[in-house]
Amino acid sequence: MATSLRRPSFSSRSSSSPDADDEGVRGTCEDASICKRFAVSIGYWHDPYIQHFVRLSKERKAPEINRGYFARVHGIRQLIKAFLQKTECQCQIINLGAGMDTAFWTLKVCTDFFRVFYQDEGLLPRKYFEVDFPVIVTRKLHSIKFKSLLSKPILDLHSEETLQIDGQMLDSKRYAIIGADLRDLPELEEKLKKCNMNTQLPTLLMTECVLVYMTPEQSANLLKWAANNFETAMFINYEQVNMDDRFGQIMIENLRRRQCDLAGVETCKSLESQKERLLSNGWETASAVNMMELYSRLPRAEVSRIESLEFLDEMELLEQLMQHYCLCWATRGGSELGLKEITC
Ligand SMILES: C[S@@+](CC[C@H](N)C(=O)[O-])C[C@H]1O[C@@H](n2cnc3c(N)ncnc32)[C@H](O)[C@@H]1O
Repeated sequence: MATSLRRPSFSSRSSSSPDADDEGVRGTCEDASICKRFAVSIGYWHDPYIQHFVRLSKERKAPEINRGYFARVHGIRQLIKAFLQKTECQCQIINLGAGMDTAFWTLKVCTDFFRVFYQDEGLLPRKYFEVDFPVIVTRKLHSIKFKSLLSKPILDLHSEETLQIDGQMLDSKRYAIIGADLRDLPELEEKLKKCNMNTQLPTLLMTECVLVYMTPEQSANLLKWAANNFETAMFINYEQVNMDDRFGQIMIENLRRRQCDLAGVETCKSLESQKERLLSNGWETASAVNMMELYSRLPRAEVSRIESLEFLDEMELLEQLMQHYCLCWATRGGSELGLKEITC
């Protein structure tokens, strides 16, 4: 979730049971996808799929938030693209806490997206998995079932006659979506295996703004599980950083008012603490950049294009926001493929 000091959020949801705590976390799925849809609607990047998963926000999002989402989507998709190229698509991708993410569809068919970001055509892994809470998966599946723009790419790639589908999962040849709790690793593993996850294939696992909602112990267990299960793998993590200051405190308080606890914020102290968590849980290399640094490395032409979309009166707002988010990536094995050289 993006926070800006320009727009603190004071809305509240009341309840206090453990499941209600998860409700606050699940609510972040809507927040992220609404922000992405808003940025797409004013031209930050091309994504014809997001509109089928989420409504358009009535209220304008601040320009620094839109630019933040642009850098986030751009940075993550650069890393995904590099992994697909290094493995020549002989790999799988597992998006953990995927929410309404549309990367599978953009990878499959959105040549316009590739034109904007990569100047080339689509790349697709052997299989793309998404995992989120069952309630979120049920919602996503509903959209997939009833919108042909979403179901067609899945069906086109599916050679067999029958498709495995129920309210909380869909398993097809190249795409699977699974309802599971990332804190319950035996359940997660069992469901992924049922959908033919192949631990021998080079695997890209990703968490985009997800680990911060789990305790440090739970996220460490997830990272360890991932490192132990795949010999050749890469992990991408996007989330908060530098959370010890006033801005971080405001973000924590705003979310707490909405019954959403940043249970893992302790690990979001610095780029060093982010890297350390990866390295101490079985990953061999770890890199991290804050989003302001990443923004400054974006192609100049793209930055000029998006900066002309909306006027940003105070550059400091963007800097402040971007210094509180980071993109981290880690690898294990795969030296022969050049995974360790991947950077964004
Ligand atoms: C901020 S949203 C981000 C969604 C998506 N990754 C994106 O960036 O658009 C966080 C997502 O993580 C999911 N999530 C958080 N904790 C989870 C858990 N323990 N098990 C499954 N999903 C979880 C939430 O339901 C939500 O969809």
